[in-house]
Amino acid sequence: MTEAYIKNLKQFEGQTVTLKGWVSNKRESKGLVFLNIRDGYGICQCVVDAAKVSEEVFSNASKLTLESSLSISGTVVFDEKQIGGVELQVTNVEIYQIASEYPIAKKEHGVEFLADRRHLWLRSQRQWAIMRIRNRIIYSIHQFFQEQDFVQMDAPIFTGNACEGTSNLFETDFFGETAYLSQSGQLYGEAMAFAMNKIYTFGPTFRAEKSKTRRHLAEFWMIEPEMAFHDIFMNMDLIEGMLRRIVTDVIATCETELGVIGRDVEMLKNVVKPFPRLTYDEAVRIIKGEQDVNGKNSIKTIEEDITSANARLIEINNEIKEREDKIASGSLKKGEISFNQAKIDKLKNEIKDVEEDLRNLPLWLNSAKNFEYGNDFGGSDETVITRLFDVPIMVYNWPHAVKAFYLKRDPNDSRFARGVDVLAPEGYGEIVGGGERETDEQLLIEKIKEHELPMEAFEWYLDLRRYGSVKHAGFGLGLERIVCWLCKLPHVREAIPFPRMMGRVLP
Ligand code: 4AD
Ligand code: MG
Repeated sequence: MTEAYIKNLKQFEGQTVTLKGWVSNKRESKGLVFLNIRDGYGICQCVVDAAKVSEEVFSNASKLTLESSLSISGTVVFDEKQIGGVELQVTNVEIYQIASEYPIAKKEHGVEFLADRRHLWLRSQRQWAIMRIRNRIIYSIHQFFQEQDFVQMDAPIFTGNACEGTSNLFETDFFGETAYLSQSGQLYGEAMAFAMNKIYTFGPTFRAEKSKTRRHLAEFWMIEPEMAFHDIFMNMDLIEGMLRRIVTDVIATCETELGVIGRDVEMLKNVVKPFPRLTYDEAVRIIKGEQDVNGKNSIKTIEEDITSANARLIEINNEIKEREDKIASGSLKKGEISFNQAKIDKLKNEIKDVEEDLRNLPLWLNSAKNFEYGNDFGGSDETVITRLFDVPIMVYNWPHAVKAFYLKRDPNDSRFARGVDVLAPEGYGEIVGGGERETDEQLLIEKIKEHELPMEAFEWYLDLRRYGSVKHAGFGLGLERIVCWLCKLPHVREAIPFPRMMGRVLP
């Protein structure tokens, strides 16, 4: 018998095939068992008809519980109405295991409940889709860089160097010496770029951020290209090319997955447009509402959104009340009651979202109005500005005092450093941070002192400025941040198989 994967079933019309997988849904009606089987590649409805199979096969099918594992054989028939456009008319069922009562039911669960069961949650369709999109993004990144002759390098994870400030280091005992879990492979990437010309790292990085935001993980994956002979503008061209490539590939190859999560692709298609490049000064004016973007004003937009969120809250509460009254009236059939209850559960979840908006919007309004020139952007500031754009924006030339020690001072204005942050639209904020590197050894030494970093740990790095120094630049893309944006997730925790963040080290 031919073994097949669900994604290929259309090729087997009229033939008998065997699938191996798990039961993701089951319905029974007189003499029929409808099974939705998933095999990791897709989902297929399999129909077991008592009139067409042996008693034993039918009784096996009837015994199946959610997430039971099995091998199932049958004839492939086209059926436009079904997921995947085919259906399996079952001839045989072999059970591997009857699963115990599955803890994740069809009803809406709270996110903490699901996070505690991440090892099982990953099987749900939505998580399946996100993980496949993540995989596609990883593949595109490797393709993009490999096709341009970048060498992939692995930077160490134990390091003696703080690259991104000392406030969020995970300290470890390295045979009696202090070592940190790497915040970034960049410094090593710079060394390797002078050996290879163009390199990129792709590895785990660590930040002991004690903040519980929807953007921060303690362990995340970063892609860090570093290019010799590149300045900040060439760097921005490369970032733009990379992001465009990733998004275009995801749209072209992940139609099913994007459909499963309900992602509006029209918005993503905008990446073919050039990404606006704003200096820090311009970006600040936009945040503060002193400069409009395509007729949109940051402050007014937030104020309008507060008004409509309040209106929506009233609407939801009214609808819940209506449905609760209907249920209480006692005139509904069993099916109607559960239908209404499901709607109520859904609305109650929406309330949480709207209430969250109503907590956030005033904070954003406040931080936009009170933004102090010279500061770095916080999450709120990024949200405020990116809500006004439909493509990623690049903000460059930052006040050097608020950015990393290694950034090159702007030769035209020494108040600024040649850093660039890429902020994703739809409120997602920073997905890439990078810039041109300081090549002046004395300025670097000053900066290392100013940041109170231990000079001995940076001697090797200073060597790179002593032996054949050239202008060079690079950036870091946060993998989970781009997954989050492309999938329009509410939180980075869904963008990585097993998130590590404050308060979560299990499962
Ligand atoms: O802006 P960051 O801190 O820059 C660097 O680490 C540079 N060394 C990169 C370079 O120039 N080679 O981090 C880069 C990106 C951010 O833009 C963000 O996408 C992601 O890494 N990132 C995080 N993602 C999830 N959780 C966190 N706590 C993150 N911190 C940074
Ligand atoms: Mg940054």
